[in-house]
Amino acid sequence: MSIVRIAPSILSANFAALGQEVNAVLDAGADWIHFDVMDNHYVPNLTVGPMVCKSLREFGVTGFLDVHLMITPVNKLASSFIEAGANLISFHPSATENVSETIQLIKNSGVKVGLALNPDEHVSLIEPYLEDIDLVLMMSVFPGFGGQKFIPEVLENVAKVRSLIDAIDRDIALEIDGGINQETIGKAYAAGADTFVAGSAIFNTSDYNETISKLRKSINA
Ligand code: DX5
Ligand code: ZN
Repeated sequence: MSIVRIAPSILSANFAALGQEVNAVLDAGADWIHFDVMDNHYVPNLTVGPMVCKSLREFGVTGFLDVHLMITPVNKLASSFIEAGANLISFHPSATENVSETIQLIKNSGVKVGLALNPDEHVSLIEPYLEDIDLVLMMSVFPGFGGQKFIPEVLENVAKVRSLIDAIDRDIALEIDGGINQETIGKAYAAGADTFVAGSAIFNTSDYNETISKLRKSINA
């Protein structure tokens, strides 16, 4: 496996200076920007909507915006995020009425699509859609808050999804999200993840360049 992506989550960034923060992590070597969207309904926390995504584009952010929707319903806001400049949109299957329809809605707009799986959910929930999606987002914490502890039991599911992806000849990213830091990233990589979301482990440090390099070194990438 050669591709490794580091995707800082804006959840732990300084929202009063979000444009600068996002450009700073991109300059420091981040591959994607992970944009967490919470609605205080599907998850018990509230973050930001498509206007903020659009503002980042207007500010001059050109990097890959990996939008993680933790909201219900999905379709209308997914469309707004597409208009706002998202490159990839992930959603949780239980948050939408018709998973295939939501996948097609996103794909038909030329934006990549991902499905998210919670730590207590079975891989069979996403398996039927592997032929249609670009990314699987494995949650290694329960969605809602940054800075939570990595749940090691999800590594088993990561390995399962890795074998499913390898068995079909499609380019599907396997992203892991929650509690990723210098200690946990190696385990997630060994289990088969290739894209690593890290919020607090990056934004709570002062030298983003050094932190991102260290994360890469932890997996020898
Ligand atoms: C949790 C979010 C994560 C979170 C990651 O609901 O989906 O993206 O912000 O934050 P850390 O890396 O601090 O666990
Ligand atoms: Zn996320």
